[in-house]
Amino acid sequence: MRAVRYHDAGGPGVLRLEEIDRPEPAPGELLVEIRAASVNPVDAKLRAAHAPSEPKTTGSDLAGVVSAVGERVDGYEVGERVFATGLHTDRFTGGSFADYAVVPTDLLAPIPDSVSFQQAAAVALVGVTAWRAFVHHANVEPGETVLIHGGNGGVGHVAIGLADALGASSVTTARPEHHDTVSAFGADAVLDYDRDDLADAIRSETSGVDAVLDHMPGTYFETDIEVSAFGGCIVVIAGGDAPIPNAGAARSKELQFSMMSMSNLATHPDLPNIGPILSRLGTLLDDGRLEVSIDRTLPLEDAAEAHRAVIEESVVGKIVVTP
Ligand SMILES: NC(=O)c1ccc[n+]([C@@H]2O[C@H](COP(=O)([O-])OP(=O)(O)OC[C@H]3O[C@@H](n4cnc5c(N)ncnc54)[C@H](OP(=O)(O)O)[C@@H]3O)[C@@H](O)[C@H]2O)c1
Repeated sequence: MRAVRYHDAGGPGVLRLEEIDRPEPAPGELLVEIRAASVNPVDAKLRAAHAPSEPKTTGSDLAGVVSAVGERVDGYEVGERVFATGLHTDRFTGGSFADYAVVPTDLLAPIPDSVSFQQAAAVALVGVTAWRAFVHHANVEPGETVLIHGGNGGVGHVAIGLADALGASSVTTARPEHHDTVSAFGADAVLDYDRDDLADAIRSETSGVDAVLDHMPGTYFETDIEVSAFGGCIVVIAGGDAPIPNAGAARSKELQFSMMSMSNLATHPDLPNIGPILSRLGTLLDDGRLEVSIDRTLPLEDAAEAHRAVIEESVVGKIVVTP
């Protein structure tokens, strides 16, 4: 089978399309014939910064068809459509940019009939991230307001849809060329992230933000604190080493700072499993209560281009890769 692997850390050029042996599912695993994968910034960051001890197949998310079932697996059969995420974690050397992958059942869920392989692969990592942030960390409730930085991004656009599905209003930011598209994802207000009066503009749209989803705390912590309602929660998904400015204001509002990585759900046995979250996301897609946007689809041969684009370009939603 084909797999896009890297042997050393480096730029997208270290990715090689190679012929390798098809893996066999161990007990508790399924062999999945991959129909779609999607690229995430973490795939490119790991490739750039971490030389693997053995060749690593890139890619976190997949959607495909069960092709073999390992021992001690209940509830799945050959031919079933499934999607998964978490394959980027150091629990695996096999990733999703390949013809096949073995996946433990805690990382996957069935795909509803109305959801395509591409949609399922596109939603997996970003949907689990938004779910972990809003449901597990911020406990977003109907009637609350959330702030999402970067509403056109992979995580951002699904977070807007999830907030809506949870009954919350959302204020989001994006560069002006994406404002109409981001409004169509369901955002109640879209603001230019470059404006100097961003905090004032957010305050004029809300009476205080109950939850913030922040992937650039070094830039936005001050704004987050300023616009948060009393008792609000600021969930940080990247750049978590940024210092907290104006800690006095944060303390007087009793703000909660929540640092998270969805990867922990794949590696920490005490945390909730990824599969049931994917199952809920699948239901939301099936019911039309959540949308995932696909910016473009590239063939496996263009994996390096997918890695380049996810870091360097302003993408709306997700880039999907198909074998
Ligand atoms: N901790 C976790 O569990 C977790 C999970 C998923 C992702 N992440 C991290 O979260 C980040 C976002 O992931 P993603 O998949 O959504 O990436 P993405 O698809 O590349 O989206 C990035 C978003 O950030 C926006 N952005 C860029 N500069 C900005 C600025 N100055 N102010 C506000 N927004 C700005 C982008 O807007 P433009 O298009 O205008 O550039 C885009 O909307 C990445 O660092 C990723 O590694 C963490």
